[in-house]
Amino acid sequence: MIEFSHVYKTYPGPVHALKNIDLRIDKGEFVFLTGPSGAGKTTLFRMISAFDHVTSGQLVVANQELTQISSADVPAFRRRIGVVFQDFKLLKNLTVFQNVALPLKVLGEKEQNIRRRVPDFLEKVGLSHKSDQYPESLSGGEQQRTAIARALIHQPGVLIADEPTGNLDPRLSEEIMDLLEKVCAQGTTVFVATHDHEMVKRRNKRTVSIRAGELEGGR
Ligand SMILES: Nc1ncnc2c1ncn2[C@@H]1O[C@H](COP(=O)(O)OP(=O)(O)OP(=O)(O)O)[C@@H](O)[C@H]1O
Ligand SMILES: [Mg+2]
Repeated sequence: MIEFSHVYKTYPGPVHALKNIDLRIDKGEFVFLTGPSGAGKTTLFRMISAFDHVTSGQLVVANQELTQISSADVPAFRRRIGVVFQDFKLLKNLTVFQNVALPLKVLGEKEQNIRRRVPDFLEKVGLSHKSDQYPESLSGGEQQRTAIARALIHQPGVLIADEPTGNLDPRLSEEIMDLLEKVCAQGTTVFVATHDHEMVKRRNKRTVSIRAGELEGGR
C-alpha cells in the first residue's frame, strides 16, 4: 500500500515539485501515472523509494512511515520495494543471471538459494535461454525484462516503474506491460509512470495524472 497525505516536495531554488499530494494505492492495485515532462513523476517515485525525503506531509509505503525515515532504516525498507527505470540500469560486466542475483547477494543470501531462485525468476520473464549472456547482446525488451526480474527477485510487495517502456518500440512496450500486469495479478502493487497515452487507454487501468506538481484525479 502507498499513501500520500498532503505531501509537498520543494527543491532548492525553490522548485515546488510536489504540491499537496493526496494519493492512496491499495495492495495489489495497478495504477498508471501520467503527466508532461517536468510535472513531478520521477520526484513522486523518488519519494516512494526513499531516495529523498518529502518536505512536508506524510508518506507511508509498505507499512513504513517514510516522512522521517532514518538513513539506517532505508536499506531494510528498500528490500520491500522494487524499482525499474527507463534506461534499465543493468551492470554491463555481469551476465543476466548475475544481474538478477545481485540483490540477493547484497542481502547475503546463500549461494544455494541464489542458484535455485534466479532461474525461477528468469523463467517467469521468459529469459531462461539468455541466462549467461551479457546485457549488450540483448534486445531492449530483454534488457528491461532482466531489470524487472532483478527488481522482483527479493519479492517486494510494491513495484514502481519510471517510464519502463520509454526506450522501447511499441511491440516490446506491450510485452513489458503484459509482464507488469502479470506481476500485479500475482499480488504485487504496481505503479507505472508513462508518457504513452495510447497504451494507457488500451490497458484500461486506474490512471492518475500530475501537472506542475499537482495531482488530478487522485484518491
Ligand atoms: N534535484 C533537483 N533539484 C532541483 N529541481 C529538481 C530536482 N529534481 C527535479 N527537479 C525539478 O522538479 C520538477 C519535476 O521534475 P521530475 O523529474 O519529477 O519530472 P518528471 O515528471 O519526471 O519529468 P520527465 O517526464 O521529463 O521525466 C522539474 O521542474 C525539475 O526541474
Ligand atoms: Mg521523469
